[in-house]
Amino acid sequence: MTTGTIIAPSVLSADFSRLGDEIEAVVRAGADWIHLDVMDGHFVPNITFGPPVIKAVRDRTDKVFDCHLMIEPCDPYLAAFADAGCDIITVHAEATRHLDRSLQAIRDLGKKAGVSLNPSTPESVIEYVLDRLDLVLLMTVNPGFGGQAFIPSVVEKVARVKALVGDRPIDIEIDGGVTPQTAPLVSATGANVLVAGSAVFKGGSEENYRENIQAIRNASDGAIRNAA
Ligand code: DX5
Ligand code: ZN
Repeated sequence: MTTGTIIAPSVLSADFSRLGDEIEAVVRAGADWIHLDVMDGHFVPNITFGPPVIKAVRDRTDKVFDCHLMIEPCDPYLAAFADAGCDIITVHAEATRHLDRSLQAIRDLGKKAGVSLNPSTPESVIEYVLDRLDLVLLMTVNPGFGGQAFIPSVVEKVARVKALVGDRPIDIEIDGGVTPQTAPLVSATGANVLVAGSAVFKGGSEENYRENIQAIRNASDGAIRNAA
């Protein structure tokens, strides 16, 4: 749990041929965490990268590597992602049969444990794992691709998750369609970590990344101030 809005650019929208350089650029541009979208072509209809690629770029920054596993099963691969240098490992509730076991396995590896919920998954699934949870990742698109439109019905879910979490040190992260227009909706209701792929990497230069991150941060901070 950290204070202030955390901006976590998703490298899904980066130029993969220069992934290490892109990570360095986005960190210089103001990224707080680096969000790594791992897809298996089974749980989601797209394939990205795995532990060797993450390991290859790990030494480009000391920022938190926030790993979003969209793979099923996930348990057999948790150790490999921990070894690759992920700091937070998030599994999908829909992709593991024994959620509490997966979360405990992540913590046993010395990493922070997150659970992600698809837009249509009710927040009640986290009720019995709150004691072994460091982060809840609420999807505001159906996972699989960058550049999709934000699903507004999840905004109310953010408020319900916030109430469930109470004063526990659990981050609430939003992923999918986050822009300066949508960020205020989720920041005002309790999200403290915002993932953004296309809205950060659009333009393709470090200067663009800086402006893009700042625009999301300003929108989010403004909403938090207004809600206070
Ligand atoms: C989608 C991924 C997201 C994605 C977000 O399955 O989990 O992290 O990269 O991309 P944008 O910000 O473009 O919606
Ligand atoms: Zn993601």
